[in-house]
Amino acid sequence: MRQNHIIWHPATVTKSDRQKLNNHKSCALWFTGYSGSGKSTLANELDYQLHELGIRSFVLDGDNIRHGLNKELGFSPKDRVENIRRVGEVAKLFVDSGQIVMTAFISPYRKDRDQVRKIFEEGEFHEIFIDCPFDVCESRDPKGLYQKARKGIIQDFTGIDSPYEAPINPELTINTEHCTVKQAAETIIKYLEEQNLLP
Ligand code: PPS
Repeated sequence: MRQNHIIWHPATVTKSDRQKLNNHKSCALWFTGYSGSGKSTLANELDYQLHELGIRSFVLDGDNIRHGLNKELGFSPKDRVENIRRVGEVAKLFVDSGQIVMTAFISPYRKDRDQVRKIFEEGEFHEIFIDCPFDVCESRDPKGLYQKARKGIIQDFTGIDSPYEAPINPELTINTEHCTVKQAAETIIKYLEEQNLLP
């Protein structure tokens, strides 16, 4: 619970100072989609392409964050809510530091994604729906988790016994069933250019 005597300390070097130094705007690209839809692969390819362009970027990945910052959280609805809340706050710090941050989390609940959007300034939060049919994600099963979930070895698995609420009005939808990872990353770069987020 936040204590009333904790007072916000304003930064001497502002977000705008940092963006000027980087020569580009900062924003959060919030990827959402089923396990196996391609969020992490795409986020990392995009990170690579941005890096090659001299852009300061970083990927926050669900599996990785659950090894450290969120290691005590599981996959109950309550834990997923807390997972996304924390990641939203971390993503905001990256945006404040002048970078383009990509978050690769299932983030299955619409309400949580909308809540994260609210902590950002206008135009800083971009919801990107990694749209891949559930049966395709299940057939990919890169980590064998769907098979385990079907056998009942893993509980609360998204799309099997835990819900996924697709975005209603995302800034961008990428269908990873019919394009290569490189093409998908290029589509996002083009979108960033259209939004005047790149130099
Ligand atoms: S969430 O819903 O946003 O809190 O999930 P996230 O932090 O993105 O973690 C998803 C990754 O955890 C693995 N995993 C599971 N996913 C869904 N449901 C259950 N029960 C589960 N157990 C483990 C899985 O590797 C997810 O990674 P991705 O990259 O999405 O495949």
